[in-house]
Amino acid sequence: MKKYNIINCALLAGFFLENGECLASKGSTALIGEEDMQTPFPEWLAEFTNLTQWPGLDPPYVPLDYIDLTEVPEFDRYYPGECPNISREQCSFDCYNCVDVDDVTSCFKLSQTFDDGPAPATEALLEKLRHRTTFFVLGINTVNYPDIYEHILERGHLLGSHTWSHEFLPSLSNEEIVAQIEWSIWAMNATGNHFPKYFRPPYGAIDNRVRAIIKQFGLTVVLWDLDTFDWKLITNDQFRTEEQILEDIEVWKEQENGLILEHDGAHRTVDVAIKINELIGNDQLTIAECIGDVDYIERYN
Ligand SMILES: *[C@@H]1O[C@H](CO)[C@@H](O)[C@H](O)[C@H]1NC(C)=O
Ligand SMILES: *[C@@H]1O[C@H](CO)[C@@H](O)[C@H](O)[C@H]1NC(C)=O
Ligand SMILES: *[C@@H]1O[C@H](CO)[C@@H](O)[C@H](O)[C@H]1NC(C)=O
Ligand SMILES: [Zn+2]
Repeated sequence: MKKYNIINCALLAGFFLENGECLASKGSTALIGEEDMQTPFPEWLAEFTNLTQWPGLDPPYVPLDYIDLTEVPEFDRYYPGECPNISREQCSFDCYNCVDVDDVTSCFKLSQTFDDGPAPATEALLEKLRHRTTFFVLGINTVNYPDIYEHILERGHLLGSHTWSHEFLPSLSNEEIVAQIEWSIWAMNATGNHFPKYFRPPYGAIDNRVRAIIKQFGLTVVLWDLDTFDWKLITNDQFRTEEQILEDIEVWKEQENGLILEHDGAHRTVDVAIKINELIGNDQLTIAECIGDVDYIERYN
């Protein structure tokens, strides 16, 4: 039985935390949203997976011909709050800030990025933004809030993957990692008719085992160099104030470059994101613009 912490639970649409357990709102562990509001489960996916509906928190592994798990290096799994022995070969970002040459960690213009949507809170941010930005979305939220996903797309923003259900990837088996990625891509394709190019790992938790799988999907890993720790606004145990966040922004503005990590899964973090946006202004870039690369690997319409 997997444990979900409060952040994880608060960010997954349709879940709530009770006695330390993350529960689905309707008492069901399978489907979370109102089924008639979900992205329809497409015919091409039904044919490929032999399934008829979107999975719950634990998506099933479906083998793909372009993913070869024998090519994935073997490193010990590790869990939140613990770290593997330091090694350049394993290259853990969350433990040791280790990055690969192909990872995107910054931008030549100071730019905001948003994780964990689409969520009802996202709409207020969309109303305010006057430039293109990047959203790293959860597959499970994408299929439960397809209308919000489409609003993001209509406004010209860039969408990247942030897994299916916000797992700590270094703790999973190779097959479970593949499942987290493939279902997130299928959710994005079924909702937005595209195959993403950019991927951000939940918690920044990534090592070279996870990277090897991400690269086989053709995805580019995106991290950050400036962290607002905005999620601490919505937890009680790790206190951080809005003033502290905005003070950091003033300092970062002086250096003019950088990639800022924020979250659009909660109203509180979106409120602050809007204030940050007012401070920084509209001269910001998407990840694709930061590195001069394509928005999506494929568009299907
Ligand atoms: C789906 O069913 C077909 C026919 O039984 C089978 O060949 C295929 O391997 C199944 N696919 C998956 C992903 O289970
Ligand atoms: C990690 O380091 C500890 C202490 O030095 C050692 O006992 C352990 O065997 C090491 N583990 C690995 C996987 O190298
Ligand atoms: C994406 O969706 C299209 C149908 O719109 C389908 O033909 C294609 O196989 C899908 N690709 C992936 C990678 O899911
Ligand atoms: Zn996240």
